[in-house]
Amino acid sequence: AYDATPYLPKRGGLPAHRRAAAECRGCPLFENATRTVFGKGASTARIVLVGEQPGDQEDKQGEPFVGPAGRLLDKALAESGIDRKTTYVTNAVKHFKFALAEGSKRRIHKAPDLHELTACRPWLLAELHLVGPDVVVALGATAGKALLGQSFRVTKDRGTLIPLPDLDAGRHGSEDRNEGEEPYVVATLHPSAVLRSDDREAAYAGLVSDLEVAARALR
Ligand code: URA
Ligand code: SF4
Repeated sequence: AYDATPYLPKRGGLPAHRRAAAECRGCPLFENATRTVFGKGASTARIVLVGEQPGDQEDKQGEPFVGPAGRLLDKALAESGIDRKTTYVTNAVKHFKFALAEGSKRRIHKAPDLHELTACRPWLLAELHLVGPDVVVALGATAGKALLGQSFRVTKDRGTLIPLPDLDAGRHGSEDRNEGEEPYVVATLHPSAVLRSDDREAAYAGLVSDLEVAARALR
């Protein structure tokens, strides 16, 4: 099965993990993407935001949420009283999956499948261990499934504090871990879903109010 585990460093903090992730070949997505897009932010962040996977701009620039979805996310964070500089932002899958549009060079986003999501999850779990946040915000269904399992549904599970299940019992050493209580997960819409929504204003207001739930859960 596809699995990033052999590529994870046995020890070291976020910088060591970022360097190792750049060489990951745990699933086939590294073949066509430009680079690994690892998470970005402080290891002391109290909120971790998890998206789906890098998009076209993120793949080119090497940082998460720097394209159109990122601009919307920045605005929603500011409106909910969260400073992006105090967060750690990452994705459930670290390589851009795409198909080329017929007769053009345009790269069309494709959702990662369960094999790719499962393969890449050790990176996400390592980031969560190393940062040790109070709250993890799942942006959309892919992040929700990576954190809460396959029965996750955005419509049913969004906007409430859900204790993060122990998805990696025994997989990762405890020595580098930020001590503290288990974080909560708050799920919400993906910013790209807001951009595509027929009722963009209502979808955006929903994103902001879910982020406010996360902001209130800070300890
Ligand atoms: N969409 C995501 O899920 N993540 C990004 O980093 C950019 C767009
Ligand atoms: Fe490794 Fe994840 Fe990239 Fe697959 S998507 S090669 S598991 S970093």
